Amino acid sequence: MMEMMCVEFESKSENEAFARVVAAAFIARLNPTLDEVEDVKMAISEAVTNAIVHGYENDPSKKIFMRCSIENQTCQFRIMDQGVGIADIERAKEPLYSTKKDEERAGMGFTFMDTLMDDLQIYSQLGEGTTIIMTKTFSRG
Ligand SMILES: Nc1ncnc2c1ncn2[C@@H]1O[C@H](COP(=O)(O)OP(=O)(O)O)[C@@H](O)[C@H]1O
Ligand SMILES: [Mg+2]
Repeated sequence: MMEMMCVEFESKSENEAFARVVAAAFIARLNPTLDEVEDVKMAISEAVTNAIVHGYENDPSKKIFMRCSIENQTCQFRIMDQGVGIADIERAKEPLYSTKKDEERAGMGFTFMDTLMDDLQIYSQLGEGTTIIMTKTFSRG
């Protein structure tokens, strides 16, 4: 049986914390370890931050969508924006690559998401937006 939830929130930095807490609350039913909860929170934060600062270039009137679904012990997390999109996804995934280095971005967001989750997929089109799909299987039932 599949269980899912969906939230939509404004593109504001305070909603990074909102999104990671909501995701953590949703996966609580999987009896995650503390490490697993921390991994999810950090990966969600990175994805939401990217939507805010890159996708929407800090325009708080824009909306971010998060969908989480659980099947057995596996959770799929989707973060979606309808922002500027990514020109070169392979390049964007490279460690230390950032188009906003001048704003003290470390360029490690995608590297963290990839490391913390079991799977990371990036779908993006210029001018259309970006969808990040991350999957993680939890160790306890
Ligand atoms: N949602 C997004 N919309 C548009 N561009 C994005 C998005 N997420 C990531 N990017 C691009 O991918 C690059 C790498 O992202 P990331 O690894 O998180 O590094 P950082 O956020 O520190 O720049 C960003 O600099 C940006 O150019
Ligand atoms: Mg980032």
